[in-house]
Formats: sequence, structure tokens, C-alpha cells
Amino acid sequence: MTNGRLPVVLPIQKSCSDPAIAKMKPRIGVLTSGGDCPGLNAVLRGVVLAAEKLGWEVIGFRDGFEGLLPPGDHVVLDRKSIDGIMALGGTIIGTTNRGHFVAKTGAGDRTVVPAQVIADARKILGELQVKALIIVGGDGSMVTAQQLQEAGINCIGVPKTIDNDLEATAATFGFDSAVDVVVDGLDRLHTTATSHRRVMVVEVMGRHAGWIALHGGIAGGADIILIPEIPFDYDRIAGVIKARETAGCLGTVVVVSEGARPKHGEQVKRDVEAGEFRLGGIGEIVAREIAKRTSKETRCCVLGHLQRGGAPTTLDRILATRFGVKAVQLANEGHFGSMVSYQNYQVRHVPIAEAVNRLKLVPPNGELVQTARDVDISFGD
Ligand code: F6P
Repeated sequence: MTNGRLPVVLPIQKSCSDPAIAKMKPRIGVLTSGGDCPGLNAVLRGVVLAAEKLGWEVIGFRDGFEGLLPPGDHVVLDRKSIDGIMALGGTIIGTTNRGHFVAKTGAGDRTVVPAQVIADARKILGELQVKALIIVGGDGSMVTAQQLQEAGINCIGVPKTIDNDLEATAATFGFDSAVDVVVDGLDRLHTTATSHRRVMVVEVMGRHAGWIALHGGIAGGADIILIPEIPFDYDRIAGVIKARETAGCLGTVVVVSEGARPKHGEQVKRDVEAGEFRLGGIGEIVAREIAKRTSKETRCCVLGHLQRGGAPTTLDRILATRFGVKAVQLANEGHFGSMVSYQNYQVRHVPIAEAVNRLKLVPPNGELVQTARDVDISFGD
């Protein structure tokens, strides 16, 4: 293994008429799609080990759905290839959130994957005798999975997102690991805030939903949390900081989701092209506006992709393993078109069709926001 990814050595491809193929074990395909996330490798490990027990062979497609394109960029995943990958961040078979299969450009949008691209993928899966395809990805990848399923490819979805913003599952692996990074970052930034009597603004991920900021902010002792679901007001934020100073507090720590926006303002988008964009930059703007209004030294720290890397937490390793095992069971039982889902402490399944395009947002009047307010955290509203 090199750089945490399997070396690019493809097995020799055989034709379907080859007697060796006729004797082959039934095959499950698996791919990881969308942004990387701690726990992807733990899912792959769970898939391979559970599949082996049930007599399936596992084929991993490289770089997300792109691996399904002719000639079919794949590798056999066996015990040896998944040995020791539980704690490894990223994905040993690669991923992408770009390419030929992108079926979504933003919340609620659905674009159609070209029929020829789907036909090519179906042909490759047929040639490789793959009976079921496990797709580990976020909302956009599930939209693609649904389209493959509609085109007659047997798909099983495994939800993945550090943002934890899928309505159809109470939890996704990667979220806990991302929150841990935020908490560690806040623990460190508090010291600069108090030592220098500064305001430290920390920008975290969270495209549509503020779960990472909310959980990370509460656990990391933030003073102000700004999330997409609660538009904020710069004067209010400045008021909170001044009141803290009057009360003798030395520094202030502000956590801001990349998707947060001021009342009557817009999200900060970058690299906008053909309806696609990246978020990011709101932290710097918040810091500038705070400095202007309070005259306090203010700094911004963007945690960015640090939140998506590194070893998964214990909780994420267990959830990812359970998801991988469940996906194989669903394939084995023929529950095609379904997505693994975590509900009431149980791993269950829901139809992919019902799971897509339904975001789980932070309820602004919910218990968690209220708890934060009760420990004197302001949402700048
Ligand atoms: O959806 C997960 C996520 O981490 C978002 O929070 C973030 O906006 C996006 O992915 C970043 O994607 P990229 O790696 O393409 O910049």
C-alpha cells in the first residue's frame, strides 16, 4: 500500500466465457464517492469481511463512480488489502466529487447522469459479473445511486458525510471525528484568545447544516456559534463581545459554519462556475466586522480539510463497521435500492428514493440550540 491507497495494479481482466469466471464466487462491487471522510476504510473493511463470510468476492472500483467507466478501473479487495486499514483516514480505493456521474450540484437540484454513461457502467458491471454495487457516499452520490438503480443496476447505499445532514439517518460516520478536530482546535485557540485578550474566529465545515459548529462549539466551550439555520447580526455579535469584556472575560471564541450568513446577507461562495461553487471565507469577514465594531484584535482560523482527515474516532469506527456489514447483508438478501440508515440505536435500511434530497437541518428552536443558549452561548441573532 502506498500513500494510504492501493497501488494501481489491476487484475488481469477475463472475458465472461472464460471458464475461470464461470467458477468465480458471486461478486459485490463497492465504491466510495464524494468528499473523503474518516471511517470510509472501516466501511470497506466491514464490507470485505462480512462478504467473505457469506461467500461473496468484493471488487473495489477506484475514484468513485469513475471506476465504472470502460475499461473498469477496479481491484479485488480481500483480507490482505483491508488489513490494518481501520484507523486509516481517506479511502484506499480513492474518491471524487467531480466527474461523469455527478447528479447533483446543490441542495434540491437533480441533474440526470447521461444514459450512455450509465449504459457503459452497466456493461462493465456485467462483464465483471458484479451482482450488486455498494455505494458509499453523501446525498449527491445517493442521487446517482438512485439513477443507476432505476436503470437496472442493483445498488445499496451507505450514507457518508461529516456534515451529518441527511434526514434519512440519525447519524453518519465521520461526523464525530470532524467534531473532535473542532474541539481540539478550540481547546488550543482558547489559550491565544485569553493570553492576548483577542477574539478568535474559527471557520468550520457545514455546507447547509450547522451540526459540526453546534456540537464542536458546545463541546469546545465557544462563546458564539454562527450556523446556516440562524442568520446572524454583526452588531449583536459585537454587543456580546463587549458585554463579555465588561464582565471581565479575557477572550472570546467564535465558531462559524462555512455556510452561515448574516441576516439580509448571502452565503460566501467561491469558484462559482456553472451553478457549482465552494463555500468558505465567511470566517475572515466575520473577523473583520468584529474588529471594526469592537476595536479588538481579532484573528480567523479556518480548520478546512483538517476536519475530514486522520483516524476515525472509536464511535465512527463502530458505526462505519456496522454500516459496511449491513450493506453486505442487504445485498445478500436482495434489498436493492435501499440505503443503510441509523435509527433508534439500530442499523436499518430505507429506500434510497426516500432518502435523497432530504436535508437534516439544525432546528433553531430545538433542545440543542436551547441548551447552548442556557450555557450563555450566543447565536448572534
Ligand atoms: O459535504 C462535505 C464537505 O466537507 C462540506 O462541508 C464542504 O463544503 C465540502 O465537503 C468541501 O468539498 P471539497 O473537498 O470539494 O472542497
